[in-house]
Amino acid sequence: MAALPRFRFGLLRLATLVAVLVQQARLLPVAMAQTNNLTAGDALTPPRYITSPSGGFAFGFRALDSDPTKFLLATWFRFADDANSSQPQPQSVLWFLKKTAMGTAVVATATSVLNITGDGRLKVTDRGDQELWSALTPSMQRGSVLALSDSGNVQFLGDGDIVLWESFRNPTDTLLPGQPLSSSYSPGGLLVSKRTDAEFATGRFSLAVQPDGNVVLYIDLFTADYRTTNAYWATRTYGPNGNTTVTFDNQGFLNYTLRDGSVHGLILPKGSNGGNYLQLARMDPDGIVRTHTRPRYGSGGTPWTVSGALPGDGGCNRVTSSKQGLCGPGSYC
Ligand SMILES: *[C@@H]1O[C@H](CO)[C@@H](O)[C@H](O)[C@H]1NC(C)=O
Ligand SMILES: *[C@@H]1O[C@H](CO)[C@@H](O)[C@H](O)[C@H]1NC(C)=O
Ligand SMILES: *[C@@H]1O[C@H](CO)[C@@H](O)[C@H](O)[C@H]1NC(C)=O
Ligand SMILES: *[C@@H]1O[C@H](CO)[C@@H](O)[C@H](O)[C@H]1NC(C)=O
Ligand SMILES: *[C@@H]1O[C@H](CO)[C@@H](O)[C@H](O)[C@H]1NC(C)=O
Repeated sequence: MAALPRFRFGLLRLATLVAVLVQQARLLPVAMAQTNNLTAGDALTPPRYITSPSGGFAFGFRALDSDPTKFLLATWFRFADDANSSQPQPQSVLWFLKKTAMGTAVVATATSVLNITGDGRLKVTDRGDQELWSALTPSMQRGSVLALSDSGNVQFLGDGDIVLWESFRNPTDTLLPGQPLSSSYSPGGLLVSKRTDAEFATGRFSLAVQPDGNVVLYIDLFTADYRTTNAYWATRTYGPNGNTTVTFDNQGFLNYTLRDGSVHGLILPKGSNGGNYLQLARMDPDGIVRTHTRPRYGSGGTPWTVSGALPGDGGCNRVTSSKQGLCGPGSYC
């Protein structure tokens, strides 16, 4: 009879253990966030994400600031204390899924899924069957792994780790160190601004590395009859065999390399920015391309600061040949 209280105590312990296990199961999405890749048959659902091997980047579903029931499929810089904040700040988002370079963001919901399907396709679907997006792969080759690298690139890989699709070739408004921009590497060779820092809708400004070799900043590209009337800055490096590549390096320099191999500066950052700093180059919502930097370590809320800008005069004196100024309502000038 004396054993009964102990037996009961044991049951209580068991119940507590079950409760703890259930609680941990609810926390599973966070625990699973530590994986570096998705393989065939895996599915990623909001608000889950995967991380790069060193943990510095995350790729997955991020809620919209204006409507937390909607999500973007995005890549962002990840910081040690991110688990404590509900959202990475919008400035730390360096890529998000769009239908096309000039098109709108793909907006997912709580019922959306990123899948590598049984037949090797990378897809975002909603409510089971509604396809929101599907990766275009060369000659529709099948892929088997989606991996996020320590450079911040998301790659969909097929047999023999051949790259079938990658986020670096489909940039939005941001370049990371080591990410080239050219019309042959990234279809369109475009960075397109967002509407505002926290609004991921398509903005009015773009940086184009054109097939003719010219690097041009445009306002309202594709809405005017003549592209040239909407340009407000250009390298004027066009020619019959243009093959210009814009590169961003880990010191914060934004350069362009011409077909002849010569390297020229677009943005020379102020001050020295060593390996303890994160860097990004962005076509900002006001039409100025800026390099932004912040300490690598520190909280997710540490602000990014501007280290350089193109045009260098801040764009305030620029007008296009159709006489549009850059300093309208809502600009930073
Ligand atoms: C995917 O993750 C597994 C397990 O962490 C790892 O062994 C494998 O190398 C990764 N594959 C790629 C392509 O990153
Ligand atoms: C998260 O917040 C808790 C409570 O405020 C704090 O004790 C902890 O140190 C924080 N963790 C990080 C990584 O900042
Ligand atoms: C996506 O993956 C989930 C889980 O594996 C599966 O139930 C669902 O059918 C998949 N969706 C597609 C479109 O393959
Ligand atoms: C264009 O430039 C890139 C990088 O400099 C080079 O890899 C590529 O072969 C060039 N293409 C042509 C057609 O010259
Ligand atoms: C970019 O240009 C700067 C100065 O013009 C140079 O120091 C730097 O090495 C260049 N970066 C690359 C990757 O060529």
